[in-house]
Amino acid sequence: MAAGTVRAWWFAANSMLATTHSSTLVGLEAHPVLVEVEIARGMPCFDLVGLPEASVKESRVRVRSALDQLGFPFPARRVTVNLAPADVRKYGAGFDLAIALAILAASNECPTERLGDWMLIGELSLTGALRTVRGVLAQVLCARKRGFKGVIVPAPNAPEASVVEGLDVRAAECLRDVVEFFSAGKDLPPAPAAVSSPPGDLPVDLADVRGQQAAKRALELAAAGGHNVLFVGPPGAGKTMLARSMPALLPPMTFEQAIEVTAIHSVAGLLRPGMSVVDHRPFRAPHHTASTVGLVGGGEPPRPGEIALAHHGVLFLDELPEFPRDALEALREPLEDGAVTIVRARNRATFPARFMLLAAMNPCPCGFYRDGTERCACSDERVRRYRGRVSGPLLDRIDLYVPLPSVRIAQLGEPGEGPTSADVRARVTAARAVQLSRPDNGGDCNARVSPRSLKDIASLGADARTLLTTASERMGLSARAATRVLRVARTVADLEGDQEVTATHLAEALGYRTPTSGT
Ligand SMILES: Nc1ncnc2c1ncn2[C@@H]1O[C@H](COP(=O)(O)OP(=O)(O)OP(=O)(O)O)[C@@H](O)[C@H]1O
Ligand SMILES: [Mg+2]
Repeated sequence: MAAGTVRAWWFAANSMLATTHSSTLVGLEAHPVLVEVEIARGMPCFDLVGLPEASVKESRVRVRSALDQLGFPFPARRVTVNLAPADVRKYGAGFDLAIALAILAASNECPTERLGDWMLIGELSLTGALRTVRGVLAQVLCARKRGFKGVIVPAPNAPEASVVEGLDVRAAECLRDVVEFFSAGKDLPPAPAAVSSPPGDLPVDLADVRGQQAAKRALELAAAGGHNVLFVGPPGAGKTMLARSMPALLPPMTFEQAIEVTAIHSVAGLLRPGMSVVDHRPFRAPHHTASTVGLVGGGEPPRPGEIALAHHGVLFLDELPEFPRDALEALREPLEDGAVTIVRARNRATFPARFMLLAAMNPCPCGFYRDGTERCACSDERVRRYRGRVSGPLLDRIDLYVPLPSVRIAQLGEPGEGPTSADVRARVTAARAVQLSRPDNGGDCNARVSPRSLKDIASLGADARTLLTTASERMGLSARAATRVLRVARTVADLEGDQEVTATHLAEALGYRTPTSGT
């Protein structure tokens, strides 16, 4: 017998191999992982290779115990698990199910014929119950893309997985269910129909806010064009109240947008059990003690932060100057690019972050600066330092700067006035429809239109051009600020139903630019 043939015979007689399929997350994307198990003669041991992080290595303990509970004593042999490809770092406990099934298959305890058609996702408890994992939606999308017949997911993740059409999604309660599905032909229930997330706290209605007409108009513009807003005003003027009315002014997301938002929440582990899709626009209001990582994302593996969680929705930063300077500066790039890339020594992940920034602050530390009374005792230097906590470049990215006056107590007793949230939402929806139907908008709202397309959709007449040039010089506007003014002017025109951007539209947009001094 030739040496090679002898080796092959020895190998066949002494070792058994089996493979199953799973996947791992890199940022928001899932990549397929082949789980290979070899059971060979030799000193009993259980090795796990293929760049596993600590949480994956712990899989050995869970799988061993779960198999014991099932009545399959762990093989008293040399068991090697390889997670391929080896150059992608693996995180999390979601490989447990695939590893357990591959061990059973290599021990001839589970038939292998159908195993190759299914992607297996799930963490095992020591008793063999299947536990929920993060990022299931992305993994099921990956399975569909790779042509798998179906996916088996833990039952609590099934509603989330069910949104993906075009492949068979099955829900399993425990390892035994999955083994019997492959070995005894016992059926696993299909994932239940999709369930929408319940809306959050009922937002404030605009009609409940007394006075503050300028702020209400700014909110309408922001909602219509996706522009960033900063409210500056004394305590109790209604800044927080106004910001919280924003969710009710925005039109619903499309299904594709809802899927993107759901995938981000799922990777962050924020999808409520039993929920399929987040179909309400996110409204994220992190506290000012939030860290930079909490705000922009980070960690190992990279996880989305508040700005990615606010994708297609609103990021509300109340008490803006109280946020750590680093955290605020880190917002500059995502505000421009609509995405954030997190680079770590071993990893790199990009998360979409197309959010609208709503911010609120007082004009000075005591809050009563130039409010017509003598209450404010802040020195000019103190006021300057307080405002300086929000950098010029960040302010440059604010499209609508809105000073709010105090509300008179008598006003609070007056009946509701002005438009209701429903009125504004109807106008916003119409204005957004105009934007989306305009090919130059590229399917986006005005705030995200490229400067090149802006030239086509907001071409100015002679009057308007002169106004923009003179005002830009007088107000010291940066090129970015001038572009942002034009975008807001386009939204003003869209709300009016005008095709042309006129000097009147432009004048309103210019009125919202950040002043260089005072409020
Ligand atoms: N314009 C308003 N119309 C009706 N109620 C108001 C108005 N402004 C304030 N209020 C009442 O005062 C409360 C506090 O308002 P809000 O928290 O919005 O103030 P703020 O401007 O954010 O103050 P601060 O600067 O202290 O954060 C509201 O919950 C509401 O009951
Ligand atoms: Mg407030």
